[in-house]
Amino acid sequence: MIDIHSHIMPDIDDGARTLEEAVAMAEVAAADGIRQMVSTPHMFNGISNNPEPSEILDRVKKLQDAVGSLLKILPGNEVHISHEIAEQAKANRVTRINNRNYMLVEFPQLTVPIGADELFYKLQLQSIYPILVHPERNVQIQNRPSIVQAFVERGVLIQVTAMSLTGDFGGSARQTAEKLLRHNCVHFLATDCHRAERRPPILSRGRDAAAQIIGAERARRLVYENPLAVVNGEPVEMESPIPFTKEKKGLLSRFFG
Ligand SMILES: [Fe+2]
Repeated sequence: MIDIHSHIMPDIDDGARTLEEAVAMAEVAAADGIRQMVSTPHMFNGISNNPEPSEILDRVKKLQDAVGSLLKILPGNEVHISHEIAEQAKANRVTRINNRNYMLVEFPQLTVPIGADELFYKLQLQSIYPILVHPERNVQIQNRPSIVQAFVERGVLIQVTAMSLTGDFGGSARQTAEKLLRHNCVHFLATDCHRAERRPPILSRGRDAAAQIIGAERARRLVYENPLAVVNGEPVEMESPIPFTKEKKGLLSRFFG
């Protein structure tokens, strides 16, 4: 399997604190059947010092030396959405996955920022394809998953976190992850791992939970074929989303239609 979202890089954000912790995470990942892991430290959300791509590359090399043949480590970033995101990408201040053409983008936990679709479009105009990470953990999306469908229809790819599907982020995240799966709105499962024990680099449990819903072959695509296309900079096959029809209407939509 290939994990496209991880905080294995030591001493840079809220993930691994030391090289030893990072190696322990690599051991857990390898035992789970993960062969490649994209190291995606946070950018622009105040958790890191916004490492430049050259620094990420240096740190990836050091981490790879320590990890050895356990796991192949690739460079990346998890980029917090902001109005400057396209300019930052254009100025090469952001590390795309394996320096190809996909970029992990994160929303705040509570809201879907106004203008997010325009920001995604600005990235796509630069041939950078945004991957929205863990939308199932966003409160506004939990209340209205069709928001994700609209992004998918505009070519945004979706990464659900494996631990959401196993219920480790609570019932709402799990239910939303399952709904997104059923509606063809998930393209990747990833670990978003932070430590070896707490939020560990384990993909197989999430993959097996997904297989119960969409079948083993399609679940495998989320942890192998699609991530492989991303690290190679190749197109990911996107199915048309199945529309959400039975969402509860909020107070405003009851008044205004
Ligand atoms: Fe993350």
